Amino acid sequence: MNAHLMPPMLPKRIDPEVKSGRPGASVQAGDDDRRLGGPDRRQLGAAGIRSVRIAAVGDIHCGVEDAGSYRDVFAHVNPDADVLVLTGDLTRHGLAAEMRVVVGELQDVKVPVVAVLGNHDYEAGEQEVLAEILRARGVHVLQGDTFVLNEHVGFAGVKGFMGGFGRGTLTAFGEPATKAFVASALDEVRKLETALRELATPVRVVVLHYAPIAGTVIGEPEVIFPFLGTDRLAEPLDRFQASVVFHGHAHSGSFRGETPGGVPVFNVALPILRRENADRSYYLHDITLEPASLSAR
Ligand SMILES: [Fe+2]
Ligand SMILES: [Fe+2]
Repeated sequence: MNAHLMPPMLPKRIDPEVKSGRPGASVQAGDDDRRLGGPDRRQLGAAGIRSVRIAAVGDIHCGVEDAGSYRDVFAHVNPDADVLVLTGDLTRHGLAAEMRVVVGELQDVKVPVVAVLGNHDYEAGEQEVLAEILRARGVHVLQGDTFVLNEHVGFAGVKGFMGGFGRGTLTAFGEPATKAFVASALDEVRKLETALRELATPVRVVVLHYAPIAGTVIGEPEVIFPFLGTDRLAEPLDRFQASVVFHGHAHSGSFRGETPGGVPVFNVALPILRRENADRSYYLHDITLEPASLSAR
């Protein structure tokens, strides 16, 4: 067992209740019936309201020596959740051999897996190889793409990029290198925008690696905030009324925040989850589907 990865546990809620404020969904600490599995099988009452439970974690930074360390942890996702979300930095150095270890750790996971890559997964320049390794396993790797879980819930994902927040956001002025840096961020924003526009489900879950708001990087040294994300990513989240956002990367940031438009944002980097609860290996998040959502097409 990896020293920094404790055995799985029955989930203890971090939030007593979190209302998404988005149409078609409320997000809350949910039922405790983990025997039910799979989308559309969580019947929560006579009114026909159902829920989807998401397990989310990022920044597991798997090395080749970690083979076997995560397998039991991920196997517990099956009774716990309907879908597993991985928010990037799955590998330590971005090596294909490391991603093959990650795939091995996922071998007992029966629910759909949705993932974005993180900056560590780019380190060796093999990011497309790593993405293909995940896709060959059946993981839905989102690089400006969408994944529709069922008629109610869909996912949009991009890695995102850095650049800063608020008045501190880097602008495309001056040297070509500066402009190229900002263009990288804007390209990610554009991909996110396109994915959200394509997503027709009433519940739209967004997966990122970098933080889209300053609120979930608070706790990190302020001097590195610009390298942890950019709130350029928040505008499409609000405009397309995302239901909830998961990201990682800011290992010492804050677990929870929200966009200016009120979209809930969760930093599910593994070190954050460990800090909130030493036994936690992934965050469990319930999305309760309102009747309006269930009838939406
Ligand atoms: Fe990380
Ligand atoms: Fe990262």
